[in-house]
Amino acid sequence: MPGCHPGRFTELTRRHGDTLPRVDIAHELLDAIHAVYGLHPEFRSLHAKGTCLTGSFTATPAAAALTRAAHMSGAAIPVTARFSNGTGTPHVPDSTLDGRGLAIKFHLPDGTTTDFVGLTLPVFFVRTPEDLLEFTRARTDPEKVGPFLAAHPETVPAVTLQLSSLPRASYAQTTFFGIHAFRFVDAAGNGTWIRYRWQPDAGDMTLPQDEADALAPDYLQDDARARVANGGIAYTLFLQLAGDGDPTDDPTVAWPDDREQVEAGRLELTAVADDCEKLVFDPMRLTDGIEPSDDKILRARPAAYSVSIEKRFKN
Ligand code: HEM
Repeated sequence: MPGCHPGRFTELTRRHGDTLPRVDIAHELLDAIHAVYGLHPEFRSLHAKGTCLTGSFTATPAAAALTRAAHMSGAAIPVTARFSNGTGTPHVPDSTLDGRGLAIKFHLPDGTTTDFVGLTLPVFFVRTPEDLLEFTRARTDPEKVGPFLAAHPETVPAVTLQLSSLPRASYAQTTFFGIHAFRFVDAAGNGTWIRYRWQPDAGDMTLPQDEADALAPDYLQDDARARVANGGIAYTLFLQLAGDGDPTDDPTVAWPDDREQVEAGRLELTAVADDCEKLVFDPMRLTDGIEPSDDKILRARPAAYSVSIEKRFKN
């Protein structure tokens, strides 16, 4: 599939080279991640366990008015999607608590692709790759976590949400947030800052820990496959529009709930895609009509992902 091979990263790095952080911090981050979860060649260094599906996305006229991006035109766009568990350990039971991911690759009419990548958390843990490195290293030494949180109050909301979360009943009953701000640019060149989220048609649902622990270790993956065999999984895409003064470069800060929300499209996942474990999803793989913010976490992701990708494609 065009645009899905790791070689694409060379091109990506060339395009955004001026804004990407130094590559050595990406290596340090991946070393720190491997210290937490172990090194599992051939698997993603994070979000190692998942299930891939295919389907289509159709944008609303309201989305098409905000951006000239090809996948927001209103035409049905084929997609490949991957649901995942956040941990870098590939074989954990699905009842294990951590974030969950939804990565979507839109296959555009011109043969290129563009990606949306979201998490169950509406905000991220840190503002910079340097802080992420310190935080990830602290996680291997319990005595360092408290001091890190005391020095980084911006990390507390994401940690609190994570610690109070419960196992998911189904990926199809889970809301996913893009977290970063992007600038949607219309045909006339006018820009609007947005944050996106996928809201499930089946509603949001969690399970008590003991109930989830009693289920099969792959219950989330089995459920996703069963649902596509029985009518599919559907989400509505919502865009939250930035208000005056809302930060576009800080992923630790949520925008106020009363900001305008635009219903932007519908995603329908209808089949299992068995070959998608080799795909690469990256929120900086953008297309004309959508621009990245200066969020340092967003800018750090391509280099970090390419280190993980080199590892998993080595063999
Ligand atoms: C600097 C911060 C971050 C680092 C270092 C990082 C690191 C990683 C790595 C190494 C992978 C595996 C890549 C691969 O092998 O393809 C990954 C996957 C993923 N990350 Fe991140 N991540 C960061 C921030 C985020 C944020 C903010 C989100 C959500 C908005 C996110 C969501 C995901 C998802 C959903 C996947 C799985 C993608 C797939 O299914 O292929 N990450 N991350």
